[in-house]
Formats: sequence, C-alpha cells, structure tokens
Amino acid sequence: MALIMDGNAVSKAVQAEIAQEFEKVKPTGRKPGLAVVLVGDNPASVVYVGRKKKACETLGFFSVEHRLSAGTPEGELLGLVRSLNQNPQIHGILVQLPLPGHLNPQKVIETIDPHKDVDGMHPFSLGKLVAGLPGLRSCTPAGVMAMLDHYKIPVSGKRAVVIGRSIMVGKPMAQLLIEANATVTVCHSRTRDIAGIVREAEIVVAAMGRPKFVTADMVHEGAVVVDVGINRTPEGKLVGDVDFEAIAPKASAITPVPGGVGPMTIALLMKNTYQAFLDQT
Ligand code: GUN
Repeated sequence: MALIMDGNAVSKAVQAEIAQEFEKVKPTGRKPGLAVVLVGDNPASVVYVGRKKKACETLGFFSVEHRLSAGTPEGELLGLVRSLNQNPQIHGILVQLPLPGHLNPQKVIETIDPHKDVDGMHPFSLGKLVAGLPGLRSCTPAGVMAMLDHYKIPVSGKRAVVIGRSIMVGKPMAQLLIEANATVTVCHSRTRDIAGIVREAEIVVAAMGRPKFVTADMVHEGAVVVDVGINRTPEGKLVGDVDFEAIAPKASAITPVPGGVGPMTIALLMKNTYQAFLDQT
C-alpha cells in the first residue's frame, strides 16, 4: 500500500516555517499584504478565495478581497489591478481564474506588476522559471515539488510524466521537474498512447481535469502518483484525475483528493506572498 501524502499536514508544516520567518520581521511592524480579486460567483472560486483569505489571517498577513460582479467591464478590472500595483500595503495580487468569458485572462495577468505576481503566471515569472532564475513560481506546481521534498521522494534522474499542458499547472510543473533533474515527458489531448507513456513513469503528475482518467493499468508498480485534478461528479462528490482506490495499492506514494495538492497550493501562495514582501521591502 502506498504512502498517502497528506497535503493538509505538509501545508501546515510549510506555513509554520513561514510563520517562524515572519516572527523575525514582526518587530518592524511591516507585514505582507495579499489582494485577492474575484469576478463573479463561481462556487468553487468562492471556496478557494475564502481559504486564501483565511490562510492570510492565520499567519497575520494583511489581506483584502475585491469581489466584482460577473458583468464587470474589463477596463474596471484592469483599473483595480493598476491601483493594487501602486498600493504599498499590497505585495501580492491574485486574480482568481477562471474569469467570465468577456474578460481576457492574459491581459489581466499581464497588467499585474510582475513583482506582485504571486500566482507566477505573468510572462516575466514564466520566463524566469524557464531561464532557471529565482522568481515567483506558480503555486500548484511549486506545491507539488514541496510535497515531494517533504516526503524525501527522489526526483533527480527519475522519469516523470506530466499529463496536461496548462500555463497554470502542466507547463510550469514540467519545468520545475526538469529543474530538479527529472527526465520529463508532457502528455496532452493530442498525445498518442498516453497509457503506454504513463506506464513508463516513475513519477506521474495528473493535471488535465478529467475525472479518474488515470487508471490502475496505466501506472507502473511502485510509481509516485500526484493528482492535481479537482472534479465534481454529478452526485457532488470531489474526485481527482486519478483512480485513487485502484492505484493506491500499486503506487509507492500517492496524493488523495481532497487533502492532497489543494492545501499545498494555499501554502505556496503564502510563501510567494512572503517572498514578494521581502523582495519589495
Ligand atoms: N483557480 C484555480 N486555482 C487557481 C490558482 O492557483 N490561481 C488562480 N489565480 N486561480 C485559480
């Protein structure tokens, strides 16, 4: 039976480390500030934004939440982002995705001051990542790396397969694994024989947003399986991109959904916010 990687516990450990660091600068009276912008009322986004705010409160960070109606014109959203760019109390800006269809997410991301890009999705941050330079990394892939690191799972020299090529997860995930000296293959919707490729992997990261897409026959005995997917079934149950019950007996380590990668994303957002604060003060 696989080691079940406990995202709640590791997230707490990462946030405890941040709290310890923050203690050192507390006497200055300055504190990290995060602005979270939510447009519309997508129920999942409302939950995620609430968790981000709570994490800030627990750490004693300053946080503001801007809730805009679903019909907000693009100019208004860009104006808000520009005012947050200028606000010295704010060190990190996160615009929750997805945005309503009339808003261009790329334009919004590119309006964020790259130094405040705690989501790591600005082309400046992505460029730093590809160049192997220090910078703000996308929270979910960075959370996956922190989880592997916590459980001392070796990455160097391993064959890793990332399923999914999104800007938020798949591409930065592949890049972080390369940075950690894995040999990385990226699979996507046009990949032929995904099952055959995944079967070769010693580390599998599933991030394509298709419920239980990765089945037991696709996974090599002893593989490390990380599930980034969060899908809601018609019955309202949360399931990942991985068939957890069938794969857990075969894998050497696996993340559950919920309670796996999700909490790590929050922890790394706090870490990015703290880093952005240090870089700006
Ligand atoms: N929607 C789901 N996850 C995320 C995230 O990490 N950042 C943003 N901005 N939107 C999301």
